[in-house]
Amino acid sequence: MQELGHVPILLNDWGFSFCLCNPLSTVNCITILIFVTMEQLLNQIKELKEKIITNVENDAEAFRIKYLGTKGFVKAIMGEMKNVATENKKEAGQRLNEFKLFVEEKYEQLKLSSGNNSPLTTHHSQDLTLPADDLPLGSRHPISLVKNKIISIFQRLGFAVAEGPEVEDDFHNFTALNLPENHPARDMQDTFYIAQNPDWLLRTHTSSVQVREMQKAGMKNGQGKLPIRIICPGRVYRNETISARAHCFFHQVEGLYIAENVSFADLKQTLYFFVQEMFGKDVKVRFRPSYFPFTEPSAEMDISCLICGGEGCSVCKKTGWVEILGCGMVHPNVLDNCGIDSNKYNGFAFGMGIERIAMLKYQIKDLRLFSENDVRFLKQFTGAV
Ligand code: PHE
Repeated sequence: MQELGHVPILLNDWGFSFCLCNPLSTVNCITILIFVTMEQLLNQIKELKEKIITNVENDAEAFRIKYLGTKGFVKAIMGEMKNVATENKKEAGQRLNEFKLFVEEKYEQLKLSSGNNSPLTTHHSQDLTLPADDLPLGSRHPISLVKNKIISIFQRLGFAVAEGPEVEDDFHNFTALNLPENHPARDMQDTFYIAQNPDWLLRTHTSSVQVREMQKAGMKNGQGKLPIRIICPGRVYRNETISARAHCFFHQVEGLYIAENVSFADLKQTLYFFVQEMFGKDVKVRFRPSYFPFTEPSAEMDISCLICGGEGCSVCKKTGWVEILGCGMVHPNVLDNCGIDSNKYNGFAFGMGIERIAMLKYQIKDLRLFSENDVRFLKQFTGAV
């Protein structure tokens, strides 16, 4: 040990690099006693500062323990002031105080940057070249998957997509569709009315979009754009008690074809093509007579049960068939109400619930799952088409 009127401190050159690799170590390198000159002290401080500036460690607490803790570097250097030669005490004290302030400032910056990503974050404490964290990828909702599939099948047959408002007026939702006020069939589609105006309601089906399209085509006394070949996807509302099989809102795709000499055979063949594309070539269809005010004749279309293949199970209520849509030849009154000459033109219409198709396709038992947003349910459709 040399006595050079020197500043003795408890630090060594190797210790720093060791400690910086192991920031949580508090025992660290303050173990070897070295006496240094004033110049060496200043060098030590400089070197320490450089290490702190280039520090990539952004854990504020580890930094505090290592530098400002009771066994940290700052305390250790300060503690050696008692050994400093009297003539050097003033300058050494000033330098050490500056160093302490520097370390404290750095600690405050680290706290801020690790706490709230503040703009004060020092450019040394974070590696901006690192790739960002992965964001979890969502997937399409099963209703969207099925809707898109239905649309693409009908597009191949030349149907275009038409959309319209969800808040409708009475004329487009009911009256134009041969459902005048007080018609008992309105009870089948009870809905929600808008308090501001009793003529406004939430549409009960997307047939209202068909009315709007027929009106456009029928403008100028039938000189408009005909034929019409459209499908109308969208959300619809009904005043229903929510259960596994019914909801106050659901989704539909309705279709309309208006031209000259359209036949029921055209309707059947179009829908048969659709179910084969949707459910596979083995599926069988059957039509049952039904009633809708806007079609005559009207029918319900069933498909052979996908679960039991027609044998009979709980899904098809032991009949071997499940109902999937309503359809029929557009009633002449509807064409006339929309300004289309019913003596010249005729056509067919159909409408299906997307939820119903999705439940059959994916064997979903409860309608409420579609709107609960439970990620465990939705995740199961990742990659489905
Ligand atoms: N609009 C009917 C409904 O929502 C479905 C339908 C459309 C039936 C076209 C026949 C023809 O229930």
